[in-house]
Amino acid sequence: MNEHRWWYPVAAAAELGASPLPVALFGEALVLWRDETGAPHAFTDRCPHRGTRLSLGTVRVVGGAAQLECRYHGWRFDGGGRCAGIPALPEFRPADSHAVRSHPLREAHGLLWTTFGPGADAAAALPDPGPVPGRAVVCGPYDVATSAPRVVENFLDTSHFAFVHEGGLGDRGHTGVPPYDVVIDAAGAPGVPHYRAWQPRASAQAAGGTWVDYRYQLLSPCSALLLKQASGVDAAPQEAYVLWVAPLEPEHSRVWFTLFTSDTATPDATLRAFQHAVFIQDQPVLESQQPRRLPLSGGEAHSAADRLSAAYRRYLQEQGITYGVC
Ligand code: FES
Ligand code: FE
Repeated sequence: MNEHRWWYPVAAAAELGASPLPVALFGEALVLWRDETGAPHAFTDRCPHRGTRLSLGTVRVVGGAAQLECRYHGWRFDGGGRCAGIPALPEFRPADSHAVRSHPLREAHGLLWTTFGPGADAAAALPDPGPVPGRAVVCGPYDVATSAPRVVENFLDTSHFAFVHEGGLGDRGHTGVPPYDVVIDAAGAPGVPHYRAWQPRASAQAAGGTWVDYRYQLLSPCSALLLKQASGVDAAPQEAYVLWVAPLEPEHSRVWFTLFTSDTATPDATLRAFQHAVFIQDQPVLESQQPRRLPLSGGEAHSAADRLSAAYRRYLQEQGITYGVC
């Protein structure tokens, strides 16, 4: 599948402790674990011996090196997935055919990322938000009963603010969407360099309504950046919100947001509570949309206010995306 070329988040880095963690991507069950140095690893969550979930197992240190031990017969796997020992045959040296499939795993933006794509191609495609403020606060995960493209399109959509987020990100006195330009970047991904919106409460710190300058940029088929700057408000922190979506199944997604902010005073919990309040307003609307897969070949009516959404759909078509669309 073309979508396998990109990297996707599978867990927040803080979620993965000493125990193996079951996660999923594109319908495949994965297990994450950390070795004795803290380095994270991702395997297919299926023991090559009898198909048991390796996420039921335990991380053990043998001879100074951590291995993932299967719960059923105790086969042990090293960080690369090689079978390092079969307790029923202590003298036996396991072969390559006893290995579990290992996937590349990276830590970035407070999340753990993997890809099913070929190495060199995928290496270029870890989504990069570019220059953003230094403090990062991860919000989520949210498990949402809809396709990843529906979640991303909602993040790029401004004309719902006055209705879904009335009194917060929008209000009914300002429903109009001003004309805006969509610019396509070198990777073919659409963005909006300038968008001005009136927001009654634009951020966790906002005391009252203000005009806010937005910049949108799609980073990959399943991630997007929103840079926000309140205008006319002294010392308003610069904020960037990045949406990261993992397609668990064609119609089920796991969603994180990373807030990058120049605000060093507001506690993490307050920043997360604001983002949480916004997303739980979106979630029931998202889960009600039919079909759950994003229609790329017609069947929904558009207005000129939906230019960015239309550009996102074109981008998915051009990239050959087939998962979570129809
Ligand atoms: Fe995993 Fe037997 S099923 S060791
Ligand atoms: Fe919304």
